[in-house]
Amino acid sequence: MTTTTVARRANAVPSDPREHARAIAEAVDEAWHSRYGGSRIEVPMSVVAALALVAREAPDAEQLDRLGEAAERLDHEGFWLLVQRLWCEFAALRPDLNPRTKHLWYWIDEEPDETTQRAIHAVGQAALRRGVFGRFGPDGWGDTDLLGMLLQTMKSHGGRKGIGQFLTPESVTLLLGRMVAPNEGARVLEPCAGTGTMLLGAAQAMRENGLDPTQCEWWANDLDPLAAALCAVNLHLWGLGWRVVVGCGDGLQDAWMHEALRDRQVAIDEMQAAWRQAMQIVAVRQLLDLPTPESDLERAMRKARPKPPPPPPPAPASSTFDADAVYRQGSLF
Ligand SMILES: C[S@@+](CC[C@H](N)C(=O)[O-])C[C@H]1O[C@@H](n2cnc3c(N)ncnc32)[C@H](O)[C@@H]1O
Repeated sequence: MTTTTVARRANAVPSDPREHARAIAEAVDEAWHSRYGGSRIEVPMSVVAALALVAREAPDAEQLDRLGEAAERLDHEGFWLLVQRLWCEFAALRPDLNPRTKHLWYWIDEEPDETTQRAIHAVGQAALRRGVFGRFGPDGWGDTDLLGMLLQTMKSHGGRKGIGQFLTPESVTLLLGRMVAPNEGARVLEPCAGTGTMLLGAAQAMRENGLDPTQCEWWANDLDPLAAALCAVNLHLWGLGWRVVVGCGDGLQDAWMHEALRDRQVAIDEMQAAWRQAMQIVAVRQLLDLPTPESDLERAMRKARPKPPPPPPPAPASSTFDADAVYRQGSLF
């Protein structure tokens, strides 16, 4: 890893994860609104969620730094293609969460207008500069509700008040988690989950007791599709495993549980069918020895790559008299 990138990351990251999350949320909010991003706040949230997912999934810190540098160099069009690609990959990785997370990525099928693309770009740059990649690895954003902080920052005060969207601070959720202290194999239910902070507290309490939260069933629900979508991403960011069901319905009735389970299974079946079809296409291409076409994102990244330095000018011809050569040519005498 280069010294510059290490320094860049260290400078950007406040040591308190909650302060770090707050700094990102405020920078993103300011970037989105100052670029006239508009009222669809799921779009900037989707950008931050995609970047936070990369920080968790990247194989090592060096590659993450390289991706961060490449992403900072992209223009607005290239950056939007990157966000599109990240969501496609997450949809393939966690099809079970797609019924909820699609509220964050439904817009990637329609190419946004230029103003929105520029606002998306500004949001991405703000999040990168504030160190969204600074918490690297499986524990990256695993102990903090970055997306909850963002939701609270970006929703206007009035907008939150209507459905009481004030999330419980993490210090309190950890205390409550310790009181509940689920055991492995437990089914943990949160019918009005917001972005899922209570579940984070329970998972942290389990880890404190040396227990593995992936051995539990985690059921979360919220009436608000945006909160439910962020909660679904969070459950992955927090490493709660595969026994996760996220609903979007009225938590006062239990219909949400049946619906969430059914939606989850349909999404998994759809993704399996899509994989089978994709594998067939790959097999046919290989059989016909067809080259893999370059994608729009690969083209944009290639164009944004810094140009290699020009080759050094040829060394000036030696002014030393080459007596041997002249002698061999026989022109000396
Ligand atoms: C005060 S927040 C608390 C969220 C979370 N439990 C926490 O402690 O951070 C309440 C959440 O309940 C959701 N909500 C309100 N009425 C609901 C209902 N009938 N069914 C499901 N969710 C509901 C809101 O959208 C909001 O996200």
